[in-house]
Amino acid sequence: MNRVLIIGAGIIGLSIARELRKQGIERVTIVEQGEPGLESSYAAGGMLAVHAETDSAGSFFDLCKESLELYPEFAAELFDETGIDVELDREGTLYLAFTPHDQLEIDKRFAWQSSAGFAVERLNSTDIKKLEPFISPDVVGGLFFPNDWQVENRRLLRSLIRFAELNGVEIRQNEKVTGICKIGNTVTGISTDKAELQADAVVITAGAWSSLITLPGVKMPPVKPVRGQMISFRTARRLFSKVIYSPRGYLIPRVDGRILAGATSEDAGFEKPVTAAADEYLRETALEIAPGLVNLNIEDHWTGLRPCSPDSLPVLGEAAPNLHFATAHYRNGILLAPVTAKIIVDSIVNNSKSRYLETFSPQRFNAFGHQS
Ligand code: GLY
Repeated sequence: MNRVLIIGAGIIGLSIARELRKQGIERVTIVEQGEPGLESSYAAGGMLAVHAETDSAGSFFDLCKESLELYPEFAAELFDETGIDVELDREGTLYLAFTPHDQLEIDKRFAWQSSAGFAVERLNSTDIKKLEPFISPDVVGGLFFPNDWQVENRRLLRSLIRFAELNGVEIRQNEKVTGICKIGNTVTGISTDKAELQADAVVITAGAWSSLITLPGVKMPPVKPVRGQMISFRTARRLFSKVIYSPRGYLIPRVDGRILAGATSEDAGFEKPVTAAADEYLRETALEIAPGLVNLNIEDHWTGLRPCSPDSLPVLGEAAPNLHFATAHYRNGILLAPVTAKIIVDSIVNNSKSRYLETFSPQRFNAFGHQS
């Protein structure tokens, strides 16, 4: 194994490139249709929300938890490698109820997570107001997840791009993939609008755009974009210590005083404009959690396209000899980057096959007649 080509320079592609270099692969090239790290990974909130965003135990939960456990080392190593602090923040996450219906929802979460032995604490409104004085007086209860953290995803992307620059990873930006090359069934490289590139392995990490890459004779996993819009406010100092969810959205406090509020979930194809309706919805959701934000202007408003498969689960593994997928991370791309890089690189470099490659195989959709 000498040369690996990666299609897509988001968090997943960049993390895989880093892991390949660390495991001794000399020639690692990423082909990116735009500029590195400026699509969904940039638009994300950076929550590492294993518990707040999963509804049941099982393989997906296990995958998320394994990735979270890799984060302290991932962040520390990246700091040593690039000098960029990715602001891994382990203050934990609150999930709050503002109505009796919300309370039922969090009771359900508490029941399954505590019976599965996960770290979750039930809080009453007094506890919550002590922890976060700027929360609405209407809060009726909540949960605290000490092991749901956050990372500053834009700094993380900068750090991974810096790693690539320092370690000889070639990033070919503004270059579009036009096809996959193969001899017989075996993939041998790709063609782009600028060149033909040969490789011992090709990895598709093109997020919401993954399904636009086709290979005659091979069923490619279907991935579609789900648009998320977010807004941000800015305060002179950090008002909240923790990430705060309600059943309708979330607030993410950053070190620099920004407060991110998200997110919509829209089926809008590849359209990326921000909308006034989302602006209003996100502002209302934020104000329900913290009415004091009413006096702040919205500083920024942006969209990202989450990559989603038909069962909303990631797609990991080989679809044809030497053609690997690491895509469809949907709402959890930032969280799942370290574990995805390990699983994919162990498979390519060491032929070591994680159990997750079977569970999240690209072939799982074939029986349902999905065709590229
Ligand atoms: N993980 C948060 C979101 O996708 O909105």
